[in-house]
Amino acid sequence: MAHVILRHRDVENIKELDVYVKNGGYEGLKKALSMTPEEVVNEIKAAGIRGRGGAGFPAGIKWSFMPKGDGQKYIVINNDESETGTFKDREILEGNPHQVIEGALIAAYAVGADMVYCYWRGEYMDAAYPAEKAIKDAYKAGYLGKNILGSGFDCDYHNHFGAGAYICGEETALLNSLMGNLGQPWSKPPFPAQAGAYDKPTVVNNVETLANVPPTMVNGADWYANLGTDQSNGVKIVCMSGHVARPGNYEVEMGKVTYRELIYGDEYCQGMRDGKEFKALLPSGGSGPVVLPDALDGNVSFEGLNDYGSMMGSASVIVMDEDTDMVWAALKMTHFFKHESCGKCTPCREGTFWLEKTLHRIMEGHGTEEDIKTLDRVAHSMQGKCLCALGEFAVSPVIGTLKHFRSEYVAKVRQAEAVPAD
Ligand SMILES: Cc1cc2nc3c(=O)[nH]c(=O)nc-3n(C[C@H](O)[C@H](O)[C@H](O)COP(=O)(O)O)c2cc1C
Ligand code: SF4
Repeated sequence: MAHVILRHRDVENIKELDVYVKNGGYEGLKKALSMTPEEVVNEIKAAGIRGRGGAGFPAGIKWSFMPKGDGQKYIVINNDESETGTFKDREILEGNPHQVIEGALIAAYAVGADMVYCYWRGEYMDAAYPAEKAIKDAYKAGYLGKNILGSGFDCDYHNHFGAGAYICGEETALLNSLMGNLGQPWSKPPFPAQAGAYDKPTVVNNVETLANVPPTMVNGADWYANLGTDQSNGVKIVCMSGHVARPGNYEVEMGKVTYRELIYGDEYCQGMRDGKEFKALLPSGGSGPVVLPDALDGNVSFEGLNDYGSMMGSASVIVMDEDTDMVWAALKMTHFFKHESCGKCTPCREGTFWLEKTLHRIMEGHGTEEDIKTLDRVAHSMQGKCLCALGEFAVSPVIGTLKHFRSEYVAKVRQAEAVPAD
């Protein structure tokens, strides 16, 4: 099947406006402009496009929360992409930027916004050149600016670069950062649709979510809804990394490909690196529960890992082989969350500190059985106590590895107790 999102792999130079237009580009926008905004929202609702930033919230329903009538409103594209193991939004914006711009324009028309901000993680500055050129070309050709395609619809578009912080992917922290404030979340409500950027109604959507919009407008809601499963429509980009032979982004139809096929299939990762045995998988990077070999039969979809106690998230799949030390892996991930905690609330700020410190002690050969209990206690006492989901994600590496690989912790502390370190 031809790619729906990663179209630059099929069509050379589709990042150039003339090539994009020759291949059906901006036809989705034209169709949207021939409809009422409400009809466009209903089309996206009927298609069942769910957010690709991790939570899977239906895009059409999010758009319908925006107040009707005049007044400043914004579309914000979330390109913070800092989840461990994700690198899909970068490839989309580098390879096929007009599809994201077009998707954002359709969203803006649908909700009555006249400004789009694309928030980039700071480290992606170099990757932004194709997108910067695409914006300039779109302005010149009349797809951005005043009276777009003679429709009377006006919309501007700006790239904004963050300073590189995982928490700025959380939508309210992102909006704070965009406004020049400290990149920390706020307690919802208000939700962005009520009071977002500059206190005005705002839709925040992920890059990949918006890239799904133009082909859906062109081909219709039924076409999109017929791809995938009942709960997970359309296609998904899966970021495969870790100990596989051929890491990279793969576009799959939702519900049709298992994690086993992704790892071992010829068209995907072509097996484990150096022929090693598979040990464990993080289907949603460090933020989601680790799973064991039985979960390889789960499929890539929002519901595909329900039976295995994990979730797809933004599909940042990290594969680990037989040589992986799971206590080391937990330490690495916990270090990330401790480093990225914005420090606004105590359970997350202090909890991630204690988790890292304790894991460090165990890894360095100074651990005791009591330390394992401390990890359990601290992680569980953080759950449900944090202001934003980062605090919940942060306990996942500890809770998941203690559940499935407790014997590795025990072996380390027994060794430490038998041979006291200096
Ligand atoms: C700590 C944290 C980091 C996040 N990082 C991202 C990110 O990098 N990109 C993204 O699209 N969503 C991220 N999200 C989710 C956003 O808050 C928001 O749900 C999303 O941008 C909505 O877009 P969607 O509905 O199109 O998925 C993050 C959430 C949390 C809690
Ligand atoms: S949970 Fe962590 S990242 Fe989120 S607001 Fe609290 S301190 Fe900041």
